[in-house]
Amino acid sequence: MAETIKAYISEEEVSKKIAELGEKISKDYEGKSVHLIGILKGSVMFLAELAKHISVPVTMDFMSCSSYGSGTTSSGTIKLTKDLDTPLEGKDVIIVEDIIDTGRTLAYLNDLFKLRKANSVKIATLLDKPARRVADIQVDYTCFEVEDFFIVGYGLDYDQKYRNLPFIGILEFDK
Ligand code: IMP
Ligand code: MG
Repeated sequence: MAETIKAYISEEEVSKKIAELGEKISKDYEGKSVHLIGILKGSVMFLAELAKHISVPVTMDFMSCSSYGSGTTSSGTIKLTKDLDTPLEGKDVIIVEDIIDTGRTLAYLNDLFKLRKANSVKIATLLDKPARRVADIQVDYTCFEVEDFFIVGYGLDYDQKYRNLPFIGILEFDK
């Protein structure tokens, strides 16, 4: 099956939204510093661009997790595949994600980071797909709400491909 990518959100729109979000975070965290935690690999481009627009002191760390769910049940469990390098105690954390789908990954990380005694934990996502949400999580910062399409580009992949596209696209399979 051949794949085609349909343009969905342009590079200009993405850059503009991320810059606005960076300014908002800078205001919200005035007088503090933020510890950005990027969830590999999808969040890399978003985090890099967002960090450039935050004017309060920024530190960053990265982690990696994968979700396993059997196709027929809705009980996906999350496995940590790369942990953080530094402790979270006392830090004001913003988890940076590419897309929130079921919300299971974020629900797991939110609980984990609170157990690790972060001072606060907020969530920033490039894309939010609320139609498929199963976990009850609060998303603090969203760039774009999207419909239930399969999205690629700007960090998001299909089979590890298309992460490097500078815009956001919809993946379609030709019959
Ligand atoms: P969930 O919110 O725990 O279901 O998982 C979110 C993760 O699933 C994201 O971080 C992505 O890695 C992946 N994902 C969900 N929807 C898409 C999509 O439309 N395109 C690419 N990856 C996706
Ligand atoms: Mg991801």
